[in-house]
Amino acid sequence: MAALTLEQVSKIYREKGKPDNRAVKSLNMSIHDGEIISLLGSSGCGKTSTLRMVAGFESVSEGSIRLGERVLNDLKPAERNVAMAFEGYALYPPLTVRDNIAFSLLRGKTPAAEVQRRVAHVAALLEITDILDAYPPTLSGGQQQRVSLARALVRQAELYLLDEPMSQLEPQLRAVLRGRIKEYLIEHRMTSVFVTHDQTEAVALSDRIAVMSGGVLQQFASPEDLKERPANLFVAGFIGEPAMNLLPARLHLDGGELRAVVTAHGSTAAALSVHFGPLARLPEAQAMALHEGQAVHLGVRPHKVRLGSTHSAQGTESAAQGQLSFNQWQGDQSHVGVELGGHTLLVVTDGAVDLAEGAPVNLALPLSALHLFDSASEQALVHGADLR
Ligand SMILES: Nc1ncnc2c1ncn2[C@@H]1O[C@H](COP(=O)(O)OP(=O)(O)O)[C@@H](O)[C@H]1O
Ligand SMILES: [Mg+2]
Repeated sequence: MAALTLEQVSKIYREKGKPDNRAVKSLNMSIHDGEIISLLGSSGCGKTSTLRMVAGFESVSEGSIRLGERVLNDLKPAERNVAMAFEGYALYPPLTVRDNIAFSLLRGKTPAAEVQRRVAHVAALLEITDILDAYPPTLSGGQQQRVSLARALVRQAELYLLDEPMSQLEPQLRAVLRGRIKEYLIEHRMTSVFVTHDQTEAVALSDRIAVMSGGVLQQFASPEDLKERPANLFVAGFIGEPAMNLLPARLHLDGGELRAVVTAHGSTAAALSVHFGPLARLPEAQAMALHEGQAVHLGVRPHKVRLGSTHSAQGTESAAQGQLSFNQWQGDQSHVGVELGGHTLLVVTDGAVDLAEGAPVNLALPLSALHLFDSASEQALVHGADLR
């Protein structure tokens, strides 16, 4: 096992007659020995390109990739001691599933009995024991994908790269295998990089998640930090379902107190005024980034807003009054829209809500769950969680 380091890594695809496509832009990442991480982002954001550069199936256009002390850039894939499961399986059709999985071990010096033991173990883990004697062309997509995954996991490599390894599986099987794979990776202390566009999967599997958009790393942090301390508006809106409410607001710093005011559409009246408390509570560098009248976005997750409370806890919550604009029972929770001076705030609550459209609604916003982002730079300014 070893640590993986990417320094200023870029991938530029050049095709004749087309402008250069910068698919990965100056990526800096350091993955610890034995750590499990995910590259998470929408289709086309550069996840597979990044993985293929690490595996050696794409050249590194700029920057350097190191595994432990070794620079990988100019090594052939087979010289890297990296195991990879591809999106497109790439199994050998003339070999049985058993031999496909054992292939890399048979080329090495692993004793035959040990090879059989390890193949049997990963096959059981991924529920493909019954197809060990079948040939790849006779298998479903989901089965082929698990064979491809087994072939990577069975190896004793320094690094495991798994590109959407469960995308073809039914959700239930996926959830079960996810748990088992994680245990297996931890047990064997395998440094691993998953690629996924599914945040539930990334959260369930990873120690840290690298959120990518447009070839740029947006934030590389634990699932908890991505939720509680999103680095910018992109991450705030991308992580969490349903998405974080983001309301345009202005900062007021009068009397050394930090306030954020959301004004009602077409008026100067406040639709929502949040008192964060004394500026002095913030670290100096953070306070310096704030100024009077600054255009910001005020963020709060739909699950964090308390509905229907007529009083708010002094100093730890902010109160607001709005009007109910919709009320949808989702079978296990309610999605409630509350209109505040022309802005709609989504609230998610566990129980059913007995309120009709147009009804007045009281809200309590816990300060610890509020976020401020600079509207111009889109970078985070203050996380309520850090003021606790
Ligand atoms: N072999 C290639 N040649 C040219 N462009 C490519 C190639 N592979 C990927 N791209 C482009 O690079 C960008 C990132 O793709 P990719 O790394 O596959 O993203 P993801 O895995 O996140 O969906 C996309 O714009 C894609 O069209
Ligand atoms: Mg991909």
